[in-house]
Amino acid sequence: MLGELVRGELLRTHNFIAGRWLPAQAGALLDVVDPATLATIAQVADSTAVDAQAAADAAHAAFPAWRDQSGRERAQLLKRWHALILEHREDLARIISAEQGKPLAEARGEVLYGASYVEWFAEEATRTHGDIIPEPVRGRKMMAVKEPVGVVAAITPWNFPLAMIARKIAPALAAGCTVVAKPAEDTPLTAAALVELAHRAGFPAGTINLVCASREHTPEVVDAWLADPRVRKITFTGSTPVGKHLARESAGTLKKLSLELGGNAPFIVFEDADLDAAVEGLMVSKFRNGGQTCVCPNRVFVHDTVHDRFVEKLATRVGALHVGPASDERSQIGPMINQRAVDKIERHVVDAVAHGARVVTGGRRLSASDAGSAGHYYAPTVLAGANMAMVLAQEETFGPVVPVFRFSTEDEVVGLANDTPFGLAAYFYTQDAKRIWRVADQLETGIVGINEGALAAEAAPFGGVKESGYGREGSRDGLDDYMHVKYLCQGGLR
Ligand code: SIN
Repeated sequence: MLGELVRGELLRTHNFIAGRWLPAQAGALLDVVDPATLATIAQVADSTAVDAQAAADAAHAAFPAWRDQSGRERAQLLKRWHALILEHREDLARIISAEQGKPLAEARGEVLYGASYVEWFAEEATRTHGDIIPEPVRGRKMMAVKEPVGVVAAITPWNFPLAMIARKIAPALAAGCTVVAKPAEDTPLTAAALVELAHRAGFPAGTINLVCASREHTPEVVDAWLADPRVRKITFTGSTPVGKHLARESAGTLKKLSLELGGNAPFIVFEDADLDAAVEGLMVSKFRNGGQTCVCPNRVFVHDTVHDRFVEKLATRVGALHVGPASDERSQIGPMINQRAVDKIERHVVDAVAHGARVVTGGRRLSASDAGSAGHYYAPTVLAGANMAMVLAQEETFGPVVPVFRFSTEDEVVGLANDTPFGLAAYFYTQDAKRIWRVADQLETGIVGINEGALAAEAAPFGGVKESGYGREGSRDGLDDYMHVKYLCQGGLR
C-alpha cells in the first residue's frame, strides 16, 4: 500500500551493513504499523546482537579511511545527500506520515528540518578549527587539534523519524566518525529511506550502517554496542530512564555520550503578555506533532489576572483543531504513535480530573467515526485548575493535552517552573524587558523561548540540563560532540 505512494526503491526493509542491504541474520521480521489505520504497511529486519556486531565491524573497518578524508571531501558528500533529500521530499514525507502518523504538511516540514542539519554540518565539516597555543617555554610549538571520536552509535526516536537521525548522523560524518544507527522500532522505514539516499550520494561502504530491531530485540542490539570498546560514542534521544541506563552501561568502556532526554517544559504567561501572541505560541509549540515532542509545553502557568481570558481564547483555538489521518489534507493532529501512548494520555487526564481539574475542551479518546480512521486518536484537550499534585505536573504527557495552572507572582512561577528534575525547554511571554532577562537567567533549562513558541533551528544548540541530559545537537557545538581535542607539543626548537 505504501509502495503505491512512494517511488518503490526508497522503501528499504533490510539492514544496511558495509554498503549492502541485508536481512537480519536470524531471519526475523518486525511489522511496521500505520498508527492511523492500524494496518501493517511493511515488514523490516528484526535484528539481534550478531547484526549489531556486523554493523560495528563495518563501521570500525571504514573509520581510518573516512577519518583521513579532508573536511572538504566529506562536505561534498553531505551536500550531495542534502540535495537528494530535498529531491525526494514528497516521498520521504509520505513515508514519515505513513509510519509515524503526523499530518503531511508537518511531515514535509520535517524533511526540510532534517535536511537543514545535513546542510549545516556539510558547511561545518570544513571548520573543525583547533588552537595555536602561545608556548609558556621558549623553543616549543604547541597546538590543539580536533579529531573524530571514532565509531558512533546513534539510537533515535520515533517522533521525528527523519530529523533526529539526520541531526546525529550528519555531524558524526562531518567530524570524520563512522556510524551504526538503530531507528525506533515504530519508524524504521524513514531511516532506511534516508540511508538509501546517503548510499546514492556515494558515502563509502561502512561509513553509515543501519540496524533495525523490535522492542524485544533492541536491548541485545544496543548492549552489543555498549559492550564494544570500538564504539566510542553513544548519541541517544529518548526517555530519561533509558538515557540513565546507557550512561551506566557505557561506563565500562567510558564512551562519550550525548543524551537528549525527557522534558517537562513550563510555558508562562505573565500579566503583561500579548495574550493573542501567547496563544499562538502555545498552539505552535504544544500541538506540533500532536504534542509528541520533548520540548513541547507540559505545564502552562497563567497569571491570575489574565487566566480566564487566556483559557477562553485557547479553548476556542484547540477545539477547532482538525484531528484525522495524514491522508486527509485537512488534518492538523494525527494519531498518537501507539496504544501505550494513548493509554498514558488517558491516565494523566483521569488523574488530573480526580485531583480537581476541569475539562474545558476534549478530554477523551476519539473513535474511528470521530477521526475518520481506526487509529490511536486522542482529542486535543484543555484542562483548567491544574495543580502540582497531578501526575501530569511531574511526568511528560507526550500528547495533545494542555493543563493550565494559575499563579500570582513571578517568584512563585519561577519556583514552580523549576520544580522538576527535567530541564530541556521553557517558554514565557511578557513585554517587560527587565523581567525578560531576570526570568531567562533563572530558568533551569537548556532552551528558553521568549515570546516565541517555535525554537528549533539547525544553527541553534539543542539540548538540556538536569535529567534532560547533556550534549548539544545542531549549531557549531553539535560538531564538537563528535570530536575530541588532541594536544600536540613539539620541543627542541631552540
Ligand atoms: C524532540 O522532540 O526531541 C525534538 C524536537 C525538536 O527538534 O524540535
